[in-house]
Amino acid sequence: MSQLIDGKKISKQIKDELKEEVLKLNAAGKSACLAVVQVGDDPASSVYVNNKKKACAYIGIRSKAYELPESTTEEELVSLVEELNEDDEVNGILVQLPLPEHIDEDKIIRTISPEKDVDGFHPVSVGRLWIGEKGFLSCTPAGIIQLLKRSGIEIEGKECVIVGRSNIVGKPMAALLLRENGTVTVTHSRTKNLKEVTKRADILIVAIGKRQYITADYVKEGAVVIDVGMHRDENNHLCGDVDFADVEPHTSAITPVPGGVGPMTIAMLMNNCVETIRTQEE
Ligand code: GUN
Repeated sequence: MSQLIDGKKISKQIKDELKEEVLKLNAAGKSACLAVVQVGDDPASSVYVNNKKKACAYIGIRSKAYELPESTTEEELVSLVEELNEDDEVNGILVQLPLPEHIDEDKIIRTISPEKDVDGFHPVSVGRLWIGEKGFLSCTPAGIIQLLKRSGIEIEGKECVIVGRSNIVGKPMAALLLRENGTVTVTHSRTKNLKEVTKRADILIVAIGKRQYITADYVKEGAVVIDVGMHRDENNHLCGDVDFADVEPHTSAITPVPGGVGPMTIAMLMNNCVETIRTQEE
C-alpha cells in the first residue's frame, strides 16, 4: 500500500503551530504585517491572494492588500514597493506573479528589500539559500521538504530527481534537497533519456507544468513521488503533472492533486512571515 501524503493535514498542522507561536510573539509585543500586492485582476491570482489573506487572518498576522489596476506602470509599482520597504509597519512584501507584460518582474523582485522578501525570490535570498546562510526559503520547495520530513521520509543519501528547472520550484528544490544531504539530479526539457534518469529516483519531484506527463514507466518501484503540477483534466477535474492512477500503485508514497503540495506553499509563506518577527528586537 502506498502512503498518501496529506498536504492539507500537514499544512493545517503547520498553520496551527504558527498560530500558537504568533500568540506568544504578540504577548512579547511583536506582531507581523504582510503587504500583498496584486496588479490586474487575473482570476487565478485573485484566488491565491485571497487564500494568502485568509491564512494571515487565521494565524494572527495583519495583511494589507494593494489591488492595483492592470494599467499600473512599472515606475508606479517600483514606487509602491519602495514605500513598503521603508514602512516600519510592514514586515513582509508579496507581489503576486505573474505581472502584466509591460512590467519587468525581475526588476520588481529586485526592488523588494531582501529583509522583507517572504517569497524568497530576491537574488540575495537565492544566494543565501545556495550557500546555506539563514534567509527566506522559496515557499513551494520548503513546503515539499516539510511534507517529506513530516511523513517520515528520509532524504539523506537518497537519489532525488527533480523534473523541471524553474527559479520558483526546480532550482531552489535542488538547493534544499542538497542541504538535507540528498544526491540531487535536475532534469529538464533537453534531458536525454528522461525515463532512465527518473527511474533512478528514490524521491521524484515533478514540476514540469505538463498535464499527467509522468506515467508508471518513469518511476522506480517503491519510489516517493511528489507532484507540483496543477491542471484541469478533460472532465474539468484538478490533476497534476503525474498520472496518479497509473503511477500510485508503484510508489511507496505519493502526493495527491489537489491536497498535496498546493496547501503547503501558503503554510510556508506564513512561516516566512512569522520569521520576520522571530528575530525582531523587542
Ligand atoms: N504566483 C504563483 N505562485 C506564486 C508565489 O509563490 N508567489 C508569488 N508572489 N506569486 C506567485
